[in-house]
Amino acid sequence: MTKTPTARISLADAKPAAAAVDALVVALAPGRGRKAEVVAPGLTAAVRTRLTEAFAVLGATGKAGEVTRMPSGAGIKAPVVVGLGLGDAAKQSDAESVRRSVGEAVRALAGTRRVALALPLADDDALLTVSIGALLSAYDYVAYRHASKKDRKAPVHAITVLMTSAPTAEQKQAVKQVAAVAAAVNLTRDLVNTPANGLPPAALAAAAAEAVDGLPVTVTVWDELDLRREGCGGILAVGQGSANPPRLTRLEYAPEGATAHLALVGKGITFDTGGISIKPAANMDEMKSDMAGAAAVIGAVRAVAELGLPVRVSGWVPSAENMPSGTAQRPGDVITIYGGTTVEVLNTDAEGRLILADALGMAAADKPDLLIDIATLTGAAVVALGARTAGVMGNDDDARAAVCEAAAAAGESAWPMPLPDDLRAGLDSRTADIANLGDRKGGMLAAGVFLREFVPANQSWVHVDIAGPAFNTAKPYGYTPKGATGSGVRTFVQIAAEMAQQVG
Ligand code: BES
Ligand code: MN
Ligand code: ZN
Repeated sequence: MTKTPTARISLADAKPAAAAVDALVVALAPGRGRKAEVVAPGLTAAVRTRLTEAFAVLGATGKAGEVTRMPSGAGIKAPVVVGLGLGDAAKQSDAESVRRSVGEAVRALAGTRRVALALPLADDDALLTVSIGALLSAYDYVAYRHASKKDRKAPVHAITVLMTSAPTAEQKQAVKQVAAVAAAVNLTRDLVNTPANGLPPAALAAAAAEAVDGLPVTVTVWDELDLRREGCGGILAVGQGSANPPRLTRLEYAPEGATAHLALVGKGITFDTGGISIKPAANMDEMKSDMAGAAAVIGAVRAVAELGLPVRVSGWVPSAENMPSGTAQRPGDVITIYGGTTVEVLNTDAEGRLILADALGMAAADKPDLLIDIATLTGAAVVALGARTAGVMGNDDDARAAVCEAAAAAGESAWPMPLPDDLRAGLDSRTADIANLGDRKGGMLAAGVFLREFVPANQSWVHVDIAGPAFNTAKPYGYTPKGATGSGVRTFVQIAAEMAQQVG
């Protein structure tokens, strides 16, 4: 797989006017009058006044995310200066708003190689906020472009965050860690953006191994024969219709001295046609993103291992291609999941829950402190929460709340959802222990209720449905590109970091 590079980032104690870059970004705050005021620590009053006037002429208001570009003129070394609206001072304490605004500027500067950011940095957290916003927005997926690649403006290559004092070793280290997280998010994006013919299950397994190459992570791959031996009837049934056989991959990061154990399971359907219960043709191409949960798990394990967090993390990636064919499973087939529970497959398009059921059972056998699965599981999640918010369910209210809080802290939109017991009756099967199709009403929740069946009751478990946020089919916004977003990675790193703090 061709890797999209992540921009380089550095800290410098330099005057903005003297920065040797191709574009200088300064902050614009909505002024008390109508004029937006330039707020760029380190600029002389004369230059600041000149820029404020010029941005006013161009109609800049300073509202969050507004980008105004102009030739910089006398006294500034960079040929271009960009006014970046940061919105109300009060709202600047909203880290996600700052990340998005910075993202707008860096995205608008595609085609520019070196960019310096002269923005107010209240504390070290603000430094990291600006850094991640900048790094995540410098992404463009061109791995499969040949003739048309030259028409694309390359994302910003090097970002310098300007500071008013010399960066400390701690600050440099913290920014390096942010860069590792951004690189992991970009890897996840690459995996999801890769077309399905470039990443069948065996290739996804190989890509998982490659992602953690050189890191202290043990990789285990189960092929069809291994899966049969284990009794993983869900992964096998979904995969049996494809010429590209299924796989299960485990990435095990178990640093010495770690006490807490986090297990992550990610849905890895490399392409979802729906199978015999085939999907309509319109937008079916987007179903290459049905392995976004798997990609998030791979990215998260890589990031956690690279950061060296003292927490054990097991990443599970069940993977199959859901195809209709003469060997495909049929509606009405009964299959046996890992652990022995039988499932009547009433709809072959409800395939994610089948492969997750196997993997959840295997992951739970290790009795991790927390088990989380992440999946592009239901269209109903998009109906309920829109395209940008993940639905969070589980059998442990505290764990579910903790995942939502971690997501908020990381800048990912997620919201708690219930698993109503009454939805279980809709999954009753005439033939088997359970059916894979439940009530259409509350479809996101019904899928969660199905999954709950495969998790031991005393196992703390959270289910995250990222059918909406994993793949941006609309325009880019903030630091989020079109296509794969890398949804879930930052939340998982946040959770792992919190668990690493826990003692005993
Ligand atoms: N991968 C889809 C869910 C999906 C839909 C993800 C749209 C992203 C965008 C999943 O496998 C699926 O097909 N779910 C069905 C379930 C139904 C048959 C119970 C759905 O949502 O329609
Ligand atoms: Mn499906
Ligand atoms: Zn699917």
